[in-house]
Amino acid sequence: MKYKKGTLFLWILILIILIIYYHYRIDNVKIKTLNTTIINIKNEIQIQIKIQNQIRHELFMLEDKNKVSIVLPILIFACNRNTITRTLDQLLKFRPSKTQFPIYVSLGCLESDIEKSLHFYQDEITILIHTPLSYDYNSKISFSLWGYYKISRHYNWSLTQMFGVKKFEAVIIVEDDFDISPDFFEYFHATYSLLQMDPTIWCISCWNDNGLANLTINDPALLHRSDFFPGLGWLLSEKIWHELRSKWPDAFWDDWMRRPDVRLGRVCIRPEISRVYTFGVDGVSRGQYFEEHLSKIMLNIRFVHFKQMTNSLMGLLKKNYDPKFLNDVYNESETITLASLLRKHPLELGREPLNQRLKDNRLIKPSYKIIYHNQLHFEKLTKTLGLMSDYRGGVSRTSYLGIVSFVHRGHKLHLIPMMQSILYE
Ligand code: UD1
Ligand code: MN
Repeated sequence: MKYKKGTLFLWILILIILIIYYHYRIDNVKIKTLNTTIINIKNEIQIQIKIQNQIRHELFMLEDKNKVSIVLPILIFACNRNTITRTLDQLLKFRPSKTQFPIYVSLGCLESDIEKSLHFYQDEITILIHTPLSYDYNSKISFSLWGYYKISRHYNWSLTQMFGVKKFEAVIIVEDDFDISPDFFEYFHATYSLLQMDPTIWCISCWNDNGLANLTINDPALLHRSDFFPGLGWLLSEKIWHELRSKWPDAFWDDWMRRPDVRLGRVCIRPEISRVYTFGVDGVSRGQYFEEHLSKIMLNIRFVHFKQMTNSLMGLLKKNYDPKFLNDVYNESETITLASLLRKHPLELGREPLNQRLKDNRLIKPSYKIIYHNQLHFEKLTKTLGLMSDYRGGVSRTSYLGIVSFVHRGHKLHLIPMMQSILYE
């Protein structure tokens, strides 16, 4: 009996060991299979990402091929200033192709003899002549504002010529007091597809309202999205013109473009370094902001091959741009007050020489953010730091999602409204 019991016990023990062994083996096999499945899934995801990127690249290249045939005319608005030749000479110097970038000069002031001085350019340009309304002394419009009415009417007429009569698909708008960057044409040519790909983008501008040397990084390839309509060297598509033409305003067309009911939440692309420089101290606005701000905005001098920068351009599409931008602003920057910022990094005294500036093309860590409580606070910050402080249509210059981002002593600095209600009231 004793022996039988022992044998039984032994058999049970062997059975238990066998069960544990097989169970363990099965588990091991299961884990191994699971591991291979995970690796397979990971590989598959990698392959899919690669395919997706490849498709995106192919699509972009396809757009690029189409773009070669796209004609992007330049429309220069002129009145009575001889400086038109300064703008024209530079456009002609940098223009890569006469057929792809035909130049139109629209003359909107009859009293001038500018037309004569344009004879010299007759093989290179087409002249449009607009007849302005003369001032009615009985009207309620003050004479000092009449210029704005003339400009708006001139814009309406010429854009109707370009889109309605000449049937262009898009037009690059320039004024007769601009200097031009060498990559002006490349910039618009390359960014045009963004306008076609992303319905949240309604214009491409080549102007940075806060583009002073001490507020920017020396990275001419860097581009941004902006809720503020910068104008000053910008591309308008026929699609948007079609929407605007019937309600085009009698005056102040640029501020009208900034109104929320006109902009409808859409953005413009703007560069870190402007592609035009406005030298027009004698203009309709009589040099408003000129001395203290506009005259200091830098003109880019380096040629950037934007057409080869597919990835950076794709980064400007809303779905790619927003997550990175919001992460930079909210997670990658330290909150600071104006006082402690200035203690750590005092304001520059005067302008640093350009050759000094050319070196700092990289941002210094950390980035900062200052949270502002109201418009008054915002004005104090911008005035102290040297930015434009005005709001148009509830939007401050260069801001995106209510945030104004710029560079202070090599550090990225974001000005963020405390409450969303401050935004676009
Ligand atoms: C400012 C803007 C300008 C905008 C204008 C209208 C800046 C630096 N400039 O004009 O982009 O278009 O407000 O709100 O912010 N012109 C005419 N007819 C005239 C007078 C001028 O067609 O009777 C043309 C000029 O040739 C020029 C343009 O309108 O191309 C702007 O005129 P300008 O005198 O330079 O005025 P700004 O004060 O610069
Ligand atoms: Mn001007």
